Amino acid sequence: MKSTPPTAPHDPFGWIAEHTAVRAAAGLHRELRPRPAQSPLLDLAGNDYLGLSRHPEVTQAGADACLTWGAGATGSRLVTGSTALHAELEAEIADFTGFEAALVLASGYAANLAAVTALTAQGTLLVSDAANHASLIDGCRLSRARTEVVPHADPDAVRKALAGHTGRAVVVSDAVFSVDGDAAPLAELAAAARDSGAALLVDDAHGLGVLGDGGRGALHAAGLAGAPDVVCTATLSKSLGAQGGVVLGPAAVIDHLVNAARTFIFDTGLAPAAAGAALGALRLLRREPDRPARALAAARTFHRLLTAAGLDAAPPDACVVSVRAPSPSAAVTWAADCRSAGLSVGCFRPPSVPDGISRLRLTANATLTDEQIATSASLLISTAPPLATTTA
Ligand SMILES: Cc1ncc(COP(=O)(O)O)c(C=O)c1O
Repeated sequence: MKSTPPTAPHDPFGWIAEHTAVRAAAGLHRELRPRPAQSPLLDLAGNDYLGLSRHPEVTQAGADACLTWGAGATGSRLVTGSTALHAELEAEIADFTGFEAALVLASGYAANLAAVTALTAQGTLLVSDAANHASLIDGCRLSRARTEVVPHADPDAVRKALAGHTGRAVVVSDAVFSVDGDAAPLAELAAAARDSGAALLVDDAHGLGVLGDGGRGALHAAGLAGAPDVVCTATLSKSLGAQGGVVLGPAAVIDHLVNAARTFIFDTGLAPAAAGAALGALRLLRREPDRPARALAAARTFHRLLTAAGLDAAPPDACVVSVRAPSPSAAVTWAADCRSAGLSVGCFRPPSVPDGISRLRLTANATLTDEQIATSASLLISTAPPLATTTA
């Protein structure tokens, strides 16, 4: 017999309608859109920078791993054991990026929570860039450290924050900022951290596979990979086209994470299909080291075309090209107009943007043809809202 659920004396979720109305009035309501397996849209919204997520070698590697190791990791690797596949991926990604050791986790988000919380304690000073990704911010919030948020890309502010602090300190920054696509001044940040005996923790989600020699990442490009005081996190979900996250650093740090990082210890290990696909993508990238340069060139062409037409686009240091919109609702309409004409672009509005400025966000990738770049740039220009152009 079907049981009747008890009725609540009052609606405990009644407050949600009020929040929804406030969001809607500000043009900030979000809805999930269905996405077919084969989309007719040209994708400038995803983070598949090298065009590997559907590459037959990568999908085959994922499928093979799934058939060999199962659909899931079945538990925390500390409980059910660690597969040869995970060990192989960790050894190869550490070798590729130039770090001593690696630990893969279920997502880049989990990797950032792991690194920030395991490297800090009560009394540690965390110095965090104001434009850092939400996962680094949440890591700071979860940690028991004192967090000082410093102005964006400002090594002098980092030095000031560290001055006079005795004891442990960690400087935390994205390598490439996900909203505007600009790069952090890594060499200066490393010098500032080093001069005060602090560690440097860098999230290279948007640099791995794109920046540095053959895509070895922003830290490799800056000569900081493998340094004893530097730790790197990254996602396997962008240029590697798979899913998952990784922490790279000295072997002692990685061993500490295995023992102390709650998002590693209390989370099911990275799914075998994702690990296999990431490993397949990494091997393909080693064989085809020109892919990163193609993706970067596409980003620069977008920037040149859009700014020549008067749009306010930030110069891209990697594959993210960010174009300012006059308001959240204008950004939504602009993105919808592009979608109706066959182009998918990202639409970033508060609270996803730290400065409250709405943007369209295009992600360039290595598979775009010159014609696709020119056509999509023309479409973005012809559908732009009036106040989006700096020359208007
Ligand atoms: C800078 C940055 N760090 C971390 C993440 C999180 O990675 P994941 O999607 O693998 O959780 C993202 C985006 O997703 C990101 O842009």
